[in-house]
Amino acid sequence: MRLEVEITGKAFKNAAGGTQDVLAPIKFSLGDGEVGVLIGPSGCGKSTMLRIILGLDPDFQGTVARPPNARIGMVFQEPRLLPWRSVEQNVRLAAPAVSDAKLSELFRILELEAHRSHYPGELSLGLARRVALARAFAVEPDILVLDEPLASLDDALSGRLRDEIATLVASRPVMTLLVTHSLDDAVRLGDRLFFLSPRPARIVAEVPIGTPRDARGEAEIAAIKAGLARRAQGDRAERDVS
Ligand SMILES: Nc1ncnc2c1ncn2[C@@H]1O[C@H](COP(=O)(O)OP(=O)(O)OP(=O)(O)O)[C@@H](O)[C@H]1O
Ligand SMILES: [Mg+2]
Repeated sequence: MRLEVEITGKAFKNAAGGTQDVLAPIKFSLGDGEVGVLIGPSGCGKSTMLRIILGLDPDFQGTVARPPNARIGMVFQEPRLLPWRSVEQNVRLAAPAVSDAKLSELFRILELEAHRSHYPGELSLGLARRVALARAFAVEPDILVLDEPLASLDDALSGRLRDEIATLVASRPVMTLLVTHSLDDAVRLGDRLFFLSPRPARIVAEVPIGTPRDARGEAEIAAIKAGLARRAQGDRAERDVS
């Protein structure tokens, strides 16, 4: 199974009646078990691209081929929980087939046990994000799309959740698309990193990470990050002189 993305353009109409190009031509594909990471400046079109890939926005040029009947787990940039449903009900509504054991495991991993019966209005943003993660995982997705899922969590918790995402991805053949502004998360979780330009977004660099995720040691992670930072510096220098 593969996810094939070939977007040739996307524009929004603005209030003044003009149009604003948000996506330039973008082409990539993802296979089972692969984690693609999208990294790009704020406002370049990442969330727009994810909505198109999930089929939530049909108004674009190009094609997106998702595997037929793929189950989708999605963590939106805003947690988007139903305010009149408890934490547990929010997860169960999205994943009616989830077993009690699986639900308990997810709540334990995401440290949500004490919040099962709370309502979204009673949660901090970080807690709400964890509920959104529980909901996406409970679906046992074939395609997992995560739009900055670790934002607004403290370092220790975001590190633990990042490891849990890695465990989930290793446990079943799921294709994952992750948006992050953290190079550290990108290098620890990603198999291929896609660096995007400012709006309209296009892929300016695609960086594969050859070593399997569970074999990446701290020294290698640091070396990859340093290489990417040098590369970004080089790109900036090139832009400055041209
Ligand atoms: N429904 C909409 N109507 C008009 N313009 C929109 C709409 N949604 C997004 N935009 C514009 O499209 C551009 C890309 O937005 P998008 O949310 O995809 O960016 P992003 O890369 O996800 O940014 P961030 O990193 O801040 O989340 C922005 O200029 C935004 O204002
Ligand atoms: Mg966004």
